[in-house]
Formats: sequence, structure tokens, C-alpha cells
Amino acid sequence: MAETETYNYTVVRQFAIMTIVWGVVGMLVGVVIASQMAWPALNFDTPWLSFGRLRPLHTNAVIFAFGGSALFSTSYYIVQRTCHARLFAGKLAAFTFWGWQLVILSAVITLPMGITTSKEYAELEWPIDILITLVWVSYAIVFFGTIIKRKTPHIYVANWFFGAFILVVALLHVVNSAAIPVSMFKSYSVYSGAQDAMVQWWYGHNAVGFFLTAGFLGMMYYFVPKQANRPVYSYRLSVVHFWALIFTYIWAGPHHLHYTALPDWTQSLGMVFSLILLAPSWGGMINGIMTLSGAWQKLRTDPILRFLIVSVSFYGMSTFEGPMMAIKTVNALSHYTDWTIGHVHSGALGWVAMISMGAMYYLIPRLFDRKIYSLQLIEVHFWLATLGIVLYIASMWVSGVMQGLMWRAVNADGTLTYSFVESVQAMHPFYIVRFLGGTFFLVGMLVMAYNIWRTIEGAKPAIAAIPAPAH
Ligand code: HEM
Ligand code: HEM
Repeated sequence: MAETETYNYTVVRQFAIMTIVWGVVGMLVGVVIASQMAWPALNFDTPWLSFGRLRPLHTNAVIFAFGGSALFSTSYYIVQRTCHARLFAGKLAAFTFWGWQLVILSAVITLPMGITTSKEYAELEWPIDILITLVWVSYAIVFFGTIIKRKTPHIYVANWFFGAFILVVALLHVVNSAAIPVSMFKSYSVYSGAQDAMVQWWYGHNAVGFFLTAGFLGMMYYFVPKQANRPVYSYRLSVVHFWALIFTYIWAGPHHLHYTALPDWTQSLGMVFSLILLAPSWGGMINGIMTLSGAWQKLRTDPILRFLIVSVSFYGMSTFEGPMMAIKTVNALSHYTDWTIGHVHSGALGWVAMISMGAMYYLIPRLFDRKIYSLQLIEVHFWLATLGIVLYIASMWVSGVMQGLMWRAVNADGTLTYSFVESVQAMHPFYIVRFLGGTFFLVGMLVMAYNIWRTIEGAKPAIAAIPAPAH
């Protein structure tokens, strides 16, 4: 069979495997920093093991290495399948894989060394930023090149979400990382003061909206209908969902900067757009869940579908909680507390990680032309992950609200009711529960790694030659 008539699964497979590998690594670092918060002596007085250095390693590993690999893998698979076309520019696609792994490896080395720009989620120094830009431009060429050479008349909605994710992340990265290098490993942002904060959280919030949401919605629109074997509940709703979501997200960043030096009207604007954001988010969530209408019974027997649907439910939960936290008076309580961390992980574990896991359980056996080694182990993973999330987010909610209330409590004479140390002491049991929840989640991920390993061991590479339908 001629090479041009087949799908390029090599790069899809490489990214799929690395999704599992980086998932284990990133979550392991998460468990380590969670244990350090419960038992600070666990940093062993070693600078590169300290919380301040491992925390950005955790966020970079889970978001960009684990989440990023899942996004590359699924977008390359979906764009080929829905466009009935082989991936454009195969060599460039291979470059995106090796280039992205090099970015991650550089992060794994530089972050524990303390080399950082100190901008959250954009910590990597300027030489790595340039590499990221090169990889991302190549990604855009491969993805949109495939869309252009498609053999289908229309562009399936999942590709719209992936396309927006690729374009907006390029814009965010280039604008927010603009810096003046002073040495090989040190640069200064071109922005300062309130502008720096504004640009940073325009970036930070849209990293959530486009890196952690839009691309994963692309996954939802492909894998939920596939696994449920039903058409998308409403195609029209999916188009409204797309435009409403991308238009609204871009304005909501200032909710990260309530009660700061930012002009007050920008804070209120951020709050209003965050509240509006509830509507498109829930439109999408309902579209995903209702795709199952008439096939609910499948949830009882199909653990992969359960991963997908529970993840969409967590998406609904965190996109309800987010707008509430964006209300200034609520944020006055939640900001700086563990409530934010609970919100982050209901989105990150519940939505991002669960949908990626469901997508990989669907994808990997097909990519390697295998049957999954054990459905029971997927079931075990599902319950470990679900229990882990519940322990994680419930403990952080309680701890967060308690922290906020303790910090603001005042006596009749105006003095503080509690010292800061008393609030730290009160948080300790919840940090142990969060550590346990994280450990459950990590063990689930290890079960997945074992199951996938057993599924693909000894697989023949011939599957790369699956023909692309010609129409
Ligand atoms: C309608 C959707 C959402 C809105 C309006 C929203 C709103 C918010 C608000 C108000 C905060 C607290 C800001 C602060 O006090 O510092 C926050 C933090 C955060 N949210 Fe959301 N959220 C939404 C959905 C999500 C989802 C789905 C995820 C994850 C996949 C997510 C990830 C985060 C992260 C990572 C932070 C912490 C940022 C930081 O301070 O480092 N959010 N969000
Ligand atoms: C085993 C699973 C995990 C554990 C135990 C864990 C643990 C932690 C801990 C202890 C922190 C620091 C909290 C603090 O500073 O108070 C943190 C932060 C964070 N984690 Fe995780 N995590 C896990 C998985 C994930 C995943 C899968 C994602 C994303 C897909 C994620 C995204 C984040 C983000 C964005 C932050 C920064 C939040 C902020 O600045 O507000 N985590 N994690």
C-alpha cells in the first residue's frame, strides 16, 4: 500500500505512550509535594527537593507533558480520521514529538535547579521558550495542513476546538514570554508592574481555557460519541458552544487579580465575563452527557465510557465553581486558600486527567491493533481515581473555607482571633487526607500503565499501514 494512502499512527502512538509515562511522573511529583505540605521535613534540606522547586516541576509535568502529550496524540489521530487524510508533513510531525520531549526534558533539568522566570505556568527560560515556539508553529502547520488536504466536505467540530487551542496557545505563549535575555539562563519580562500581572493572568487564565479546556473538549466531541456509539446530541449546540466559549474565555483573566493594583473596572469585567462563561461551559457539558441519551445502561458495563462521562461531569462542576469564585465577595474568602487548589484539581484530575485516561483506553488498543489486556483493571483504575479525587477536593474545600474564615475572624476589640500558625495547625489533617487522595490517584495511574504495557507488549508495528478511506 502506498505510504500516502495510510494514516500516520507512528507519532500518535509515540505521544500516547508518553502521555502515560509523563502522567506517572507528574502525579508522582504531585504526591511528593503533597507529602511535603503534610510533613515539611520531607524536603530533606536539599534545595532541588524543596517545595518551591518541585511545585513548578509538578505543574509543568502534568499540564504540558501529560496533558500536552494527550492533546498532541488525540488531535493527530482525530484530525486524520475525521478528514480522511494522512497527517500533513510527516517529518515535521516527528519533529513536534522529539521537540516537545526535549522541552519537557529541559524543564525536568532546569526547574529543580531553580532556573525560572517566576511567571506561573510560564516558568521556563528563554532558550526553552524559543524551542516551544518552533514546536508549536510546526504543530500548527501539521494540523492545519491536514485540515486543508481533507477529503471530507466539512470540518468536524472536534477539529474546531483543537484548531482554536493551537492558535490561541501560540498567541498566549509569544505575548506572555516576551523577555529581554541577560544571560543564557536569565531574562526579564518586557512588562512590569500591573501590566505584567495583567498579561500574565491573561495568559494564565487562557492556558486554563485553551490548553486545559478547548483541546480536551475536542477529545470529548470525538471519543464520547465513538465509545457510546451514538451521534453527538446536538451538532448545532456544539457550534454555538464553540463560538460562545472562545469569545468569552479571553476576557475572564482579571478574576485572578481581584483586589490588586489592577484598575477596578478590569476586575469587574473579568468577574462578569466569568459569570457569562457558565452558560457556554454548561452547554458543552450538557451536549457531552446527553450524547448518551438512550444508552445510559452502557455506563453500567463500560468502564471506559464511565471515565469519559464522569470527566464531563467534573467539567460541569468545576465550571460552576469557577464563576462562583470569580464573584469578588466570594473571592475575598477563597483567594490564597486551599479552596483554589480544590477547584484546580476538580478540573485537573476530574476533567483533564479522567478524559485523557478514557481517550487513551479507547485509543491505544486501536493504535496497536490489540484488545485491552484487562477490563477489570480499568474498573479498578476508575474507582481508585474517583475515590482519590473525592478525597483530594473535599479535603481542600474544607481546609480552604476554614483557612479563609480563620484569617478573617476578628475579636470584638478588632484583634485577630487566630494567629497564622493556628490556621496552619488546623490544616494539617486535611493535608494528610489530600496526600492519601493523591496516592490513590497515582496508584490508579500505575495500574493503567501496567494494563497498557500488557496490552501492547509484543505488538506488531504493521498497524501504521491502516488505509485511509478514499472519499
Ligand atoms: C467557567 C470556567 C471557570 C472559571 C470562571 C474559573 C474561575 C476561576 C477563579 C475565579 C479562580 C481563582 C482565582 C484566584 O482567586 O486566584 C480559578 C483558579 C484556577 N482555575 Fe478555574 N475557573 C473555571 C474553570 C476551570 C477549569 C475547567 C480548570 C481546569 C481544568 C481550571 C483551572 C484553574 C486553575 C489552574 C486555577 C489556579 C490558577 C493559579 O492561581 O495558579 N478552572 N478559576
Ligand atoms: C496524584 C495527583 C496529584 C497530586 C497529589 C497533586 C498535588 C498538588 C499539590 C500538593 C499542589 C500544590 C498546592 C499548593 O501549592 O498548595 C498542586 C498544584 C497544582 N496542580 Fe496538582 N496534583 C496532582 C495532579 C494534577 C494534575 C493531573 C494536574 C493537571 C492536569 C494538576 C495541576 C496542578 C496545578 C495547575 C497546580 C497549581 C495550582 C495553583 O497554583 O493554584 N495536578 N498539585
